[in-house]
Amino acid sequence: MRVHPPHEQGSHVPTKFTSPAGDPPRQPERISRARLIELLNEDLSREYQAIIAYVVYSQVIKGAKFMSIATELEAHAGEELQHAITIAKQIDYLGGDPTVVADKVKTSDKPEEMLRFDLKNETDTIRAYRDRVRQCEALGEFAMAEHIRAILMQEQEHQIDLATALGEDPPDMTS
Ligand SMILES: [Fe+2]
Ligand SMILES: [Fe+2]
Repeated sequence: MRVHPPHEQGSHVPTKFTSPAGDPPRQPERISRARLIELLNEDLSREYQAIIAYVVYSQVIKGAKFMSIATELEAHAGEELQHAITIAKQIDYLGGDPTVVADKVKTSDKPEEMLRFDLKNETDTIRAYRDRVRQCEALGEFAMAEHIRAILMQEQEHQIDLATALGEDPPDMTS
């Protein structure tokens, strides 16, 4: 049986140190290790959702012009599984219990709609992982932040693949 490292539940450290130019100084957002576990479990539910969506959509998407994206969606499914394993590992390391619940997966028989659902999920995921990197670093969990950065790079590639298949630019993520 493995022993979890001790963690100081309820210890608070700042996660954001800057505010946009011109805004009054903001109080730094604060996070505990317990809260980080909760947020990582939300990430894990989103990764399960992504696995299910990509497994199903890659097989049911029809139409000659969607055949190359179907192959990419199948590859995404495998990458999302690796993300889920990495996130579950971080939750276990922090002393938490990885969730077994997936976020709800929307279905459609229209290829564009399936790609639109995936694009929205990837965009939400990217925003969440950007926050998570900052939160991990604020807690001194630098290796965890690196694991999440590596996932983030793949999520951004997924987002670009989907936007390209829909014939658009990837969403502006600067805000
Ligand atoms: Fe993922
Ligand atoms: Fe993804």
